[in-house]
Amino acid sequence: MKSLIIQTVYYISAVLFIVGLKRMSSPKTATTGIHWAAVGIFSSVLVTFLFPHLQNLELIILAIIIGSIIAWYLAGKIGMTSIPEMIALFNGMGGAAAAGISAVELLRLISDPKIVIGIKIGIGIGIEVEREMPILNFVLAVIGALIGSISFSGSLLAFMKLRDLLKKTIHFPLQQWINFLFLLVAVLAAIAFYYHHSLGLFIVFFLASLIYGILITIPIGGADMPVLIALYNALTGMAVAAEGFLLNNVAMVIAGTVVSSSGFLLTRLMAKAMNRSLSSLLFTKFTETSGQSLSENIRSMDASDAAIILNYISKVIFVPGYGMAVAQAQQKVWELASILLERGIDVRFAIHPVAGRMPGHMNVLLAEAGVPYDYIFAMEDINNDFSNTDVVIVIGANDVVNPSARTDKSSAIYGMPILNVDMGKQIFVIKRGKGLGYAGVENTLFYNQKTSMIYGDAKNVVSKMIQTLRSNL
Ligand code: TAP
Repeated sequence: MKSLIIQTVYYISAVLFIVGLKRMSSPKTATTGIHWAAVGIFSSVLVTFLFPHLQNLELIILAIIIGSIIAWYLAGKIGMTSIPEMIALFNGMGGAAAAGISAVELLRLISDPKIVIGIKIGIGIGIEVEREMPILNFVLAVIGALIGSISFSGSLLAFMKLRDLLKKTIHFPLQQWINFLFLLVAVLAAIAFYYHHSLGLFIVFFLASLIYGILITIPIGGADMPVLIALYNALTGMAVAAEGFLLNNVAMVIAGTVVSSSGFLLTRLMAKAMNRSLSSLLFTKFTETSGQSLSENIRSMDASDAAIILNYISKVIFVPGYGMAVAQAQQKVWELASILLERGIDVRFAIHPVAGRMPGHMNVLLAEAGVPYDYIFAMEDINNDFSNTDVVIVIGANDVVNPSARTDKSSAIYGMPILNVDMGKQIFVIKRGKGLGYAGVENTLFYNQKTSMIYGDAKNVVSKMIQTLRSNL
């Protein structure tokens, strides 16, 4: 009876995850989507306590309490712009948990020499101690451990990069071969462990997998982190699904598969947006970011002067970027856009797929400010319109409007599609100073004869523009 309740709740939870995920695909329903998924997760955790022979109950409850307090505190404290770091960190924890479950399974083989790996293909309930471990379970444990460990160490490194704790990309001779060597060592150690259940092989296997995760992350930098984070997300999902099969846990299988497939779809979308193939990202040497500071040869303008020019135009495109998120300027930007709309000016917003620090970052901010969807355009739908636009206003965007992505083969962002801002008739760029973008490369847009820099915090500059426009009614 208990087993029936557990399975039923797991299936209901799985449906809740999927419905939740579906609702997350639109900003309008995203919040309720998160609630649906949270109810699914909560009920599947709760019903797990009904499992027969559940051991270490106190430890499980203690871990849940500590984990919940930390997650609750972090989620409440973290700013919107730091969410990608948090995702990388939590994703790493997911990978570690999956690898941990596998480690427990594999350790059983070491601690109890009477357990043998059987050739029968069967699925046992992992919680019950068996004398024979089906070979399928062994293979799944190894796969879960390998992928989970790579995802854990890689995600932690991605977290450090996003947090600017590790700025440089690292390259060394024979890098790809050395990376491959560590992967090979991990696979060979797993095969050897099949025959000799020794602690030494177990440690070599886990160390090689963890080091491999670090090695494939260190050369990736610049603007390519979004693709990598999406990939690690997908890998964690795969590891969880493998553990689900191992533990005969349908909720883990479905949740892991959903995370993995959506993660791979996102990886594909991100890779397409950056014009990268996954293999080129993981298996080619990436250019070091130049880290040069901007030249002095740049024209600047006062916010009030820029606002006055806006009185005489008929078409404007706003291009928001990470700086708008930092400044929390979205409400003010919409206020400025609304004034221009009232004056009969054609107003549009252009969104680059990796603007900001997470997928859909700009869409979420603009939706929060109340910008109607009709004014918001994806890159491919607006890129041909810049040339007939009077003024393009760039608000805290940098890499996603950098024309050197088209021409400079030595640039870390070469090949990444950008918004054709440089084709606008006149360009205003709002940013605080001469800071580089996330990829750390110089932006040739700022030297363009048509560009005027308006220095200052985005919210302050836009507020000043609003003030000037209102006083010039
Ligand atoms: P960035 O290239 O990061 O440039 C942001 C600019 O905003 C900076 O140059 C900075 O210059 C300016 N800024 C910062 N605070 C500001 C403020 N308070 N007011 C005004 N300006 C401010 O932004 P982007 O163009 O949106 O490009 C996103 C980058 O992040 C891409 O390289 C992308 O690959 C990467 N990335 C994206 C994601 C996703 S999924 N979206 C995830 C991880 C990484 P100042 O310091 O001079 O003000």
